[in-house]
Amino acid sequence: MGQINKELMHRDAPIGVFDSGVGGLTVAREIMRQIPNERIIYFGDTARVPYGSKSQETVTRYSEQIVRFLRTFQVKTIVVACNTASAYALDTLEKDIDIPIIGVIKPGAKTATEVTRNGRIGVIATEATISSQMYTKYITNLNSAVTIYEKACPLFVPLVEEGLWKDPVTDEIARRYLTELIDIDIDTLILGCTHYPLIRSTLGRIIGEKVTLVNPAYETAIELKQMLAEMDMLNEEEPGLGSNRYQFYVSDKAEKFVRFANSIINYGILSAKTVNIEEY
Ligand code: DGL
Repeated sequence: MGQINKELMHRDAPIGVFDSGVGGLTVAREIMRQIPNERIIYFGDTARVPYGSKSQETVTRYSEQIVRFLRTFQVKTIVVACNTASAYALDTLEKDIDIPIIGVIKPGAKTATEVTRNGRIGVIATEATISSQMYTKYITNLNSAVTIYEKACPLFVPLVEEGLWKDPVTDEIARRYLTELIDIDIDTLILGCTHYPLIRSTLGRIIGEKVTLVNPAYETAIELKQMLAEMDMLNEEEPGLGSNRYQFYVSDKAEKFVRFANSIINYGILSAKTVNIEEY
């Protein structure tokens, strides 16, 4: 990470959270649950989603623009709430940023390494995340004796976005994707894409109860809380009613985003603003 300048961080400043679209709301939701005093500026790149099928150069350029946008709010830290952006862009973003920035891959990899008993971990994610092999790199760094099986599951994102969370079509696709992971006897499965926690019950039923599911969104919120506590940067006061505790920005029309957001977050998201992210 670049040199952190604590003078730029204020305890009551918001946390910047971004994703390629709606998926990062699963991460925002965990942050809201675990550190409810924090304010959040969320950006969803709904005009340019999906990232999971794009190149590293493109995802990095998009992520850099979003970081510049979030920094206009004087955020005290940034969470890359997208596995693909964490896999492709985090290393570059970290190099010259002077506030802390964390991604979702490292926390998920760490927990999976801790919970596996037979040393066989499965990772499901977008094509980009799988091709980066970032989960394998982090896990192997922590424990080189673990064997990791990575599997791209590109159809899950559109199925989740179409609302088919509990649908025979999703069951059938999940069965096709997961069969080979069942056959090789993994005991831990990382849900390595922001959308997958939303079909967790389907995935759990198909992979079987002996397999522990790891949700990086949850683990990331824990790591964020720890990091802010260590830096003495947790917001101690509950933000008042007029303080816009949660603000949402998107790069395309806001209506669909707001509908989706309200289906997974219980805080009554009333609006999201559209910004031209190419200007940043
Ligand atoms: N947010 C992305 C991820 O976690 C999934 C959606 C996309 O492909 O952009 O990898």
